[in-house]
Amino acid sequence: MRKKFIGANWKMNLLYEEAIKLFADLSNSTLNTSEADIVVFPSSIYLSELSKMPGLPVGAQDLYFADSGAFTGGIAARQLKSISCKYVLVGHSERRITFFETDEVINLKLKSAVRNDLKVVFCCGESLGIRESKKHLEFVTNQLMQGWKDLDETEMKNCIIAYEPIWAIGTGLNASKMEIEEMHGTIRRTVASCFSHSLSQSIRIVYGGSCNQHNASDIFSFNDVDGGLIGGASLEFDSFEKIIKSL
Ligand code: 13P
Repeated sequence: MRKKFIGANWKMNLLYEEAIKLFADLSNSTLNTSEADIVVFPSSIYLSELSKMPGLPVGAQDLYFADSGAFTGGIAARQLKSISCKYVLVGHSERRITFFETDEVINLKLKSAVRNDLKVVFCCGESLGIRESKKHLEFVTNQLMQGWKDLDETEMKNCIIAYEPIWAIGTGLNASKMEIEEMHGTIRRTVASCFSHSLSQSIRIVYGGSCNQHNASDIFSFNDVDGGLIGGASLEFDSFEKIIKSL
């Protein structure tokens, strides 16, 4: 039985006071359940303070792959560890597209994160054009294999995979049950063929893309869906609480 995972990806939203208040409200509510891992991914400037507050664990939205050095603006895995940050997102489509991150860079980031004992939410997903050309399964499989290149099974145990079709992010569009089950099944089979059957059964695969309080319980009930990575609907206490309750 895989433990559910729900991530609140706040992206580049919320001012300082708003972030502190939302985090405190979430931490003080009954959301802090043992039935699911619930993790908040705030802007990195708030990480240090939030990680000292009681309640939910926090994760970074990005890291740089070097351990230290002249990389202005970068944040190293070791620095994240030093402020008790436990998780990090790698390979989000907004990083891939807006910040031009290649599969090669994502692979370096993933390696740096797991080798420094961070838990990684490794994101993948196709554009609408790729889905329409019916190459989505092949495309996502390739993204995964490039991303986890040279990682071994023990290192992969620190990963959660998030399938986020780009055309469903922030658009209000959702992938259908059939589309989600087909992709999550493909991802699980790819983990089995690259690593082991046992890892494919234990690794968590979550869905992201316009997941909200109205559709979450349906999405979480689909085969092979172990939770969600939530953007817009995680920015308000009420909607995020409803998503957690729908577990
Ligand atoms: P939305 O929930 O706003 O579509 O964002 C999804 C996402 O990108 C989570 O990482």
